[in-house]
Formats: sequence, structure tokens, C-alpha cells
Amino acid sequence: MASLKTLICCFHILLSLFMATNLSEAREFVVGGNKKKWEIPSSSDEFNKWAAKIRFQIGDSIVLKYDSKTDSALEVTEENYNNCNKSNPIRSYSDGNTKITLDKSGPFFFISGAEGHCEKGQKLEIKVLSANHSHLQPVTPEPSPADIDHLAPAPAPSTAGSGPKTWWFVTGAAVVGILSSI
Ligand SMILES: *[C@@H]1O[C@H](CO)[C@@H](O)[C@H](O)[C@H]1NC(C)=O
Ligand SMILES: *[C@@H]1O[C@H](CO)[C@@H](O)[C@H](O)[C@H]1NC(C)=O
Repeated sequence: MASLKTLICCFHILLSLFMATNLSEAREFVVGGNKKKWEIPSSSDEFNKWAAKIRFQIGDSIVLKYDSKTDSALEVTEENYNNCNKSNPIRSYSDGNTKITLDKSGPFFFISGAEGHCEKGQKLEIKVLSANHSHLQPVTPEPSPADIDHLAPAPAPSTAGSGPKTWWFVTGAAVVGILSSI
């Protein structure tokens, strides 16, 4: 029974470790569907459709890949996002391979800095979940010894009853059967 308990304990420790790393690991997402490119999309809501599939968490980052000679990325307010207004961005990026860490919850708005690109759908809204949603998931409780005992085969009753006798009879019959078949 000891080995079974050890196995179950090890399994739970591994599971906890796996879940802990899964929750705290900062992930990196290259923006865009199949092409993974920050450029005028083939359909106007392509970037936001991509973003809607991901549950962004604080600490994750996005990477925008584009031709730095012809394009750029601007982080803007919601109003300027809606109007494709490039005049007063919160931040602007033009290195062609921009990594942006999502360091707070709430929405982030990005538009292209190239003339006319935002109007053609090169814009992206990222929603980052609040810390409450992303990190306060219930942790699997450690199993109590009672739970482990339930998983282990039940010990034979100590009182002299029909149980142990039946067990010995069945085992004996099996041994005899195996021996006689050799
Ligand atoms: C663009 O935004 C700036 C400030 O963010 C504002 O002053 C300007 O009027 C806006 N332009 C348009 C066309 O909405
Ligand atoms: C988390 O929830 C608590 C109360 O439920 C709230 O006071 C707090 O502001 C929330 N934190 C975030 C980051 O949303």
C-alpha cells in the first residue's frame, strides 16, 4: 500500500506544480491569424477576431511584426482607436518587431501609424482580464489520508468472517488452476 500512496502523492505534487506554472507563466503572442503580420488585413475585423480567441492575462505580451520602413504601431485611447486618429498616441513603435507587455488589466488599443491603414482594418483591441479573474482560481486541495485510503484496496476485515475465507479459497483455487495447467 505504501507504494500506491507514494505514487498518488507524487502525482498530486506534479499536478500542483504543473497548474502553478501554468497560472504564473507569462505568455507571448504574435499578433495576427495565420500570417502573424501587422499589416492591412484581408478582412477588417481580422485582428480582433484573433484577439477574441485568447484570454490575455496581466504579464502576457504581444508581438507585432511589420515592415519598419512602411508601417508602425501606435497605442491610442479608445476614442482615437474608434476614429483612427493618429495625432496624439499614448506610445508609438516603429522598430518592426515590437513586443508590448500587457502590464495592467483592461483594454489596450492599437492602430497602425501608416496613412490609411487603420481605416482599412489594421487596428487591434486587446482585453486583459483583471487579476481577480486570472489568478484566483481555486487550487486543488491536497488529498487527506482518508481519501488516499479510499483509493487503496480495502484491507481484509480482521474479524474472522466469510470474507477472508472466501479470499483464501479463491486464491487457492487460482493457484491450483495455474499449477495444474503447467
Ligand atoms: C485627434 O485626437 C486629438 C487628440 O487626441 C484631437 O485634438 C484631434 O481633434 C483629433 N482629430 C480628429 C480628426 O478627431
Ligand atoms: C478584485 O476584487 C476585489 C473585491 O472583489 C476588488 O476590491 C478589487 O478591486 C479587484 N481587483 C482587481 C484587480 O480587479
